[in-house]
Amino acid sequence: MSNPSPVNDRFLRALRRQPVDRTPVWLMRQAGRYLPEYRATRAQAGSFLNLAKNPELACEVTLQPLRRFPLDAAILFSDILTVPDAMGLGLYFADGEGPKFERPIRSTADIDRLAVPDMGKELRYVMDAVSTIRRELNGSVPLIGFSGSPWTLACYMVEGGGSDNYSKVKSLALNDPAAMHRLLSVVTDAVIEYLKAQHASGAQALQVFDTWGGVLSPSMYREFSLRYLQRIAAELPRGDGDERAPLILFGKGNDPYIEDLAASGAEAVGVDWTIGLGDTARRIGGQVAIQGNLDPVTLYATPETIRGEVGRALDDYRDGNGGSREGHVFNLGHGMSPDMQPEHVAAMVAAVHELSAR
Ligand code: CP3
Repeated sequence: MSNPSPVNDRFLRALRRQPVDRTPVWLMRQAGRYLPEYRATRAQAGSFLNLAKNPELACEVTLQPLRRFPLDAAILFSDILTVPDAMGLGLYFADGEGPKFERPIRSTADIDRLAVPDMGKELRYVMDAVSTIRRELNGSVPLIGFSGSPWTLACYMVEGGGSDNYSKVKSLALNDPAAMHRLLSVVTDAVIEYLKAQHASGAQALQVFDTWGGVLSPSMYREFSLRYLQRIAAELPRGDGDERAPLILFGKGNDPYIEDLAASGAEAVGVDWTIGLGDTARRIGGQVAIQGNLDPVTLYATPETIRGEVGRALDDYRDGNGGSREGHVFNLGHGMSPDMQPEHVAAMVAAVHELSAR
């Protein structure tokens, strides 16, 4: 499918480090429980999974934040755990407990049974949501598709849900690295197919969330996370011009590895708030775009304070990037929380656009 440039193409241009009139901004988890209209649609669907599996309702909640705020990109409403679910693990959400799997990975036999799911069958609902959203956006802003990183998906698959110390998945990596690599390898194959299919269905940029890479020691990060991120960046098809969907590698705690991530072939590196944007730009700014990185907790502060922090982040990036604001995509350093106020998001988005106007 050809992907003509959207009307507002600031986000795609910034990812390619081309000049833009203002710094583009979107927020991780911009669609979600902090919006009353999201809570209403979710109640109508009955559950988060029913919502994510219904392309019309997934489209509706994707568009909700864009009706309120002049965001420069939409992100597909779905979840990273759709892939292991499609691999047969049985995703469910226990009330108030976050995501869980009915059949987590418990043995090497479980690993050897895994196969890449059929994007046109088990994950068809995701592709239908992507094409529905793309149609309804009608060229207003670009649509971001996404996946979890292989390591982050493996964390949930082996732990069976969230975890405090990742003891099960780290033990597997330490005790049976060959089995861990077989697991990461099949998950990487699935992630690449998943991202390719989202692009083919209409996603114009792709983000990989390596939420839990930062819990690894440097040597384990390189062996069990970085290597597979590099494979994704290398193997995603790279056509010319508009056919190429820029790839953003986001990771929490990826400060020590940003040079490696920037050299992976990805167009952008997404960072959390524990690293300075100026320092990040000095290290990798000439090579790739940088996305980030306001501490999400800043959104609990007053609108005036939010504006001050946005200005500080914008200027820090510019100062580290040789006096230029190009190549910056503004975002939070991680996702939004349900108790955040929409008015504060409005203040943040307005501040980004106003304070970065060229
Ligand atoms: O950013 C967006 O607006 C797009 C939608 C999106 C969701 N999850 C929706 C969602 C995206 C990009 C994700 C990614 C995701 N999911 C990650 C990586 C990003 C990150 O935050 O680090 C991870 C680790 C998950 C796994 C997951 N799914 C968790 C930990 C939870 C939260 C459980 C909870 O109750 O807080 C989910 C559920 C989920 N995914 C919700 C949303 C809006 C909350 C669902 C609800 O109850 O309505």
